[in-house]
Amino acid sequence: QKHLMTKRYGQHIHYYETCPSTQPIAHEAEQNGALDGTVIVAENQTAGRGRMARPWNSVAGKGIWMSIIIRPTLTPQQAPQMTLVAAVAVTRAVEELTGIEANIKWPNDVLIDGKKITGILTELQADPDQVTAVILGIGVNVNQDLEDFPEELQSIVTSLKLITGKTVDRARLIAKIFSYLELYTEMYEKHGFGPIKILWEGYSNTIGKRIRAVMLNETITGTAIGISDEGVLQLKLDDGTVRGIYSADIELSK
Ligand code: BTN
Repeated sequence: QKHLMTKRYGQHIHYYETCPSTQPIAHEAEQNGALDGTVIVAENQTAGRGRMARPWNSVAGKGIWMSIIIRPTLTPQQAPQMTLVAAVAVTRAVEELTGIEANIKWPNDVLIDGKKITGILTELQADPDQVTAVILGIGVNVNQDLEDFPEELQSIVTSLKLITGKTVDRARLIAKIFSYLELYTEMYEKHGFGPIKILWEGYSNTIGKRIRAVMLNETITGTAIGISDEGVLQLKLDDGTVRGIYSADIELSK
């Protein structure tokens, strides 16, 4: 904890040598009254989970696998904004630590050179009009070599070590993520989503591009024209109508 400079995040850290996934542990801790900013971090996850019920590859000792319990004042409609706050914070931390430009692919994949370095999974504890907690799962590929990834992922993922050629200090990166998360959540709570939206659009590799949004029941193509004030992706279809996309996989299209 020697790098820690934050007041909100990381004051309480539960460390696991190994666990199936830090997400359910964080949900349980939340139910048991864990304080705002409590972090569950694991060296190894045997059943790490990603968005859309996908597995998340979490090689022991080579990445950052953590879940942060946040207790913001949010309505369920505002919850997607918190994911974008986290994406901006992680992107900034990664850029600063490596000196290399990073981008965000909607909603919250952090990419370097078009390859995925970080995934963020936001899960909510909520009643109909109030979010009681956001469980923010962050996975960062830090010191993996290419062989550490399953073969089918090797062309679409990367790690900070592969990018920089050096082993990266995970504790320093975690401290930086906490710092920027603290800065940007405070900005968000004080000034609303406006400033975050501007930062997010600056990092985005999606806005202005023609994309395919693959959803559970349909796939639609159009031009990503921005994100709404709620954090929802706005897709302009060929017939000129605009659709809000809440949850999908985005692919660049011609
Ligand atoms: C995604 O891109 O699909 C999101 C990946 C989120 C991975 C992190 S690692 C820590 C936390 N525990 C999990 O099981 N998943 C998240």
